[in-house]
Amino acid sequence: MSVLFEPLTLRDVTTRNRIWLSPMCQYSSVDGLPNNWHLVHLGAHAAGGYGLVMAEASAVVPEGRISPQDAGIWSDEHTDAWRPIADFVRSQGAVPGIQLAHAGRKASTWSPLLEGRGTVPESEGGWATVSSTHRPFTGYAAPRALSTDEVAALPERFAEAAVRAETAGFDVVEIHAAHGYLLHQFLSPLVNDRTDRYGGSYDNRVRLTVEVVDAVRAAWPDGKPLFVRFSATDWAPDDGPDGWDVAQTAELAALLAGHGADLVDVSSGGAIAEQQIATGPGFQVPFAREVRLKSDLPTAAVGLITDPQQAEDVIAGGDADAVMLARVGLREPGWPLRAAHELGIPREEAPYPPQYVRGAWR
Ligand SMILES: Cc1cc2nc3c(=O)[nH]c(=O)nc-3n(C[C@H](O)[C@H](O)[C@H](O)COP(=O)(O)O)c2cc1C
Repeated sequence: MSVLFEPLTLRDVTTRNRIWLSPMCQYSSVDGLPNNWHLVHLGAHAAGGYGLVMAEASAVVPEGRISPQDAGIWSDEHTDAWRPIADFVRSQGAVPGIQLAHAGRKASTWSPLLEGRGTVPESEGGWATVSSTHRPFTGYAAPRALSTDEVAALPERFAEAAVRAETAGFDVVEIHAAHGYLLHQFLSPLVNDRTDRYGGSYDNRVRLTVEVVDAVRAAWPDGKPLFVRFSATDWAPDDGPDGWDVAQTAELAALLAGHGADLVDVSSGGAIAEQQIATGPGFQVPFAREVRLKSDLPTAAVGLITDPQQAEDVIAGGDADAVMLARVGLREPGWPLRAAHELGIPREEAPYPPQYVRGAWR
């Protein structure tokens, strides 16, 4: 029997299997609004059998977008635009989720779909960025270091976005604290050079993330799960200072379990340009395993998980409770249907939309 196709229940929400679509920016929004592209993109994965479909990093404030074409959830207009998308995903049997994000000093950058590189100048639709620090990410414009009061006001922006996500019909929110974006800019000692209560010691560096989780948990329904995505390591060069690492990630995950977080989504990297990543099939799975063992929180594993048996082994081996797929999903939105076929899941248990059931016939 397949464990990959076993349902997973977190609070009152059950995903029909453990194959989840990882959040992926589509660089296709105007003013942060999702549109027909997002409906078709996310809808295709829902119809393709995913248990959970996570909408891309969606900025909680306009200046939190990675590129000017990124999605957002900072106004009621965004809520209205997301609602039909969340509804369609649910109608296909998948759980609709959305990632809440702020890019900090990595905001206002050129979409990879356009020609430019680095920071988009204000004359071309960009904006001034903010961060834990005034030091830029290599190759980008320098941010303004937020004041202590400005930092203390951020959790409320995430909470407001969570309320909009609930109104739009999402059943999971994920706080984006990975990939060198704003919350990670506070977590990483390689980026955070503050001397106030949000910088320096471990307790101070994690403070903003804990406050964001508290604010979102208070605003988000009790019955709905809250995920957090972390970069489990900065992949700092051996000959330099130590970065954020898997031990700190596990410690923070354990702390957040007591603050109402329900699952940690374990990625890596993105804080510094000098990172030395050792990539390969399933390269981040051991991080998910370590965080799961040390924190007692369920985890999702992500990163070069592309093969059905490989995904099955991640769950069966106790490395993670779910797998998140990104690029392979872009190649093949119906990946879970192929996986069901290859793993021999009976037709009636495979996540086919009725219109596609003939695909299960051998
Ligand atoms: C086009 C694209 C957009 C992405 N956007 C996001 C995002 O919005 N939020 C996020 O946390 N990760 C984002 N990622 C990272 C993926 O979610 C995933 O962690 C990464 O691609 C590794 O998984 P994979 O090997 O299955 O692609 C993006 C990746 C791609 C390829």
